[in-house]
Amino acid sequence: MNHFEYRDGVLHAEDLPLTAIAEAVGTPVYVYSRATLERHAQVFAQALSILPKVHIAFAIKANPNLAVLRVMQREGFGADVVSGGELARALAAGMPAADIVFSGVGKQHHEMIDGLVAGIGQFNLESEEEGFELAAIAAARGLTAACALRVNPDVDARTHAKISTGKAENKFGVPIDRAAAIYARLAELPGLDMRGIAVHIGSQLNSLEPFEEAFAKVGALIAELRVMGQSVTHADLGGGLGVPYKAGEEFPTPEAYAAMVASATKGWDVTLMFEPGRVICGNAGVLLTRVVRVKRSSNQVPFMVVDAAMNDLARPAMYGAWHDFDAVQPSGQRMTAHIVGPICETGDTFAMDRETDALVAGDLAVFRTAGAYGATMASSYNSRGFVPEVMVDGDKWAVVADRILPAAISAAERVPDWLD
Ligand code: LLP
Repeated sequence: MNHFEYRDGVLHAEDLPLTAIAEAVGTPVYVYSRATLERHAQVFAQALSILPKVHIAFAIKANPNLAVLRVMQREGFGADVVSGGELARALAAGMPAADIVFSGVGKQHHEMIDGLVAGIGQFNLESEEEGFELAAIAAARGLTAACALRVNPDVDARTHAKISTGKAENKFGVPIDRAAAIYARLAELPGLDMRGIAVHIGSQLNSLEPFEEAFAKVGALIAELRVMGQSVTHADLGGGLGVPYKAGEEFPTPEAYAAMVASATKGWDVTLMFEPGRVICGNAGVLLTRVVRVKRSSNQVPFMVVDAAMNDLARPAMYGAWHDFDAVQPSGQRMTAHIVGPICETGDTFAMDRETDALVAGDLAVFRTAGAYGATMASSYNSRGFVPEVMVDGDKWAVVADRILPAAISAAERVPDWLD
């Protein structure tokens, strides 16, 4: 469910025609719906309310825009962060430090200090080595870092290889069969309070079975740890629940996910932590673009060149991902086209042989479900600058991230004297 719907033949974000945003801000531009973000946060939290003790940390890598984070903060969500930059954003959005979880396979020394000094709620350790380093930093300051150990359960998430994280060959977590021994060693260190296990097997999962398989392994590990006399009060089950990118696709609902979690974690007696990203913000955003021209070279399928490109929305180029593409003011006519951006490589292709609304130069269209891993994965390749972001709330709207022009990027560059 989302608030991007046609009214009188014009695609609206909530009560605002997208034509108005294109006119005021130009294209390409990301447009987010506050009501959709809020609804998804509420549906997710409501579904999980069948569980005894729950902590939800929005995976802010999915959409770190400060206005989006503020919506999450208002819903009582904490944050899952993976860098000092994300930590600063979560704090700037008003998320209490205690509700912040620091994940990530390469936390740097200075980032661990920042997290400790801010007083964040939990570090998810990705290795024994990282645990030793964090313990030393914390002990030297007379602090204690609450930690979970991230395990790699060697489970196939059955999603795209580039976003699978729970197979033995992936870089994440410690092998689950070595986890109990590592946990016990880390629990002895001054500076660390080992309190739980974390697991995240991948993103855009379209079935619940891989989660179940992973959680069963975590349950067995928790039991083993307790037999060893270790304390386990928290289990962080990560994110990963997928969303439909194609109209009509079916995905497990938050309710079905919560029911599966309830049965998989029965008797664990821990606070269950979650790190949802995409399921909260994915279809709360679109990338609004304008057709530059339709190029009909021969009697082959035409190329529809739009002003958005792979630097603005990387997912199709990176993962072969599908994003529905719809006209803002459809005429009712249809056409088949290859939808491409202006960047000088063939990978800058959003869709091949796509049956779509018939469009001509100057027409507006959207790539849907662009609210997660959209703007945040942008680059300035081909010196194209960064696309602005707009949030709509009813018939109100605001630019929540300015367009960054190529000149602002090159202004940060220098030609050294010795090249004169
Ligand atoms: N927790 C951890 C430790 C993660 O690594 C991630 C995502 C999440 C939570 C949130 O997962 P979600 O609920 O959003 O599936 N750029 C890719 C997705 C990369 C996901 C990275 N980790 C894409 O565009 O599909």
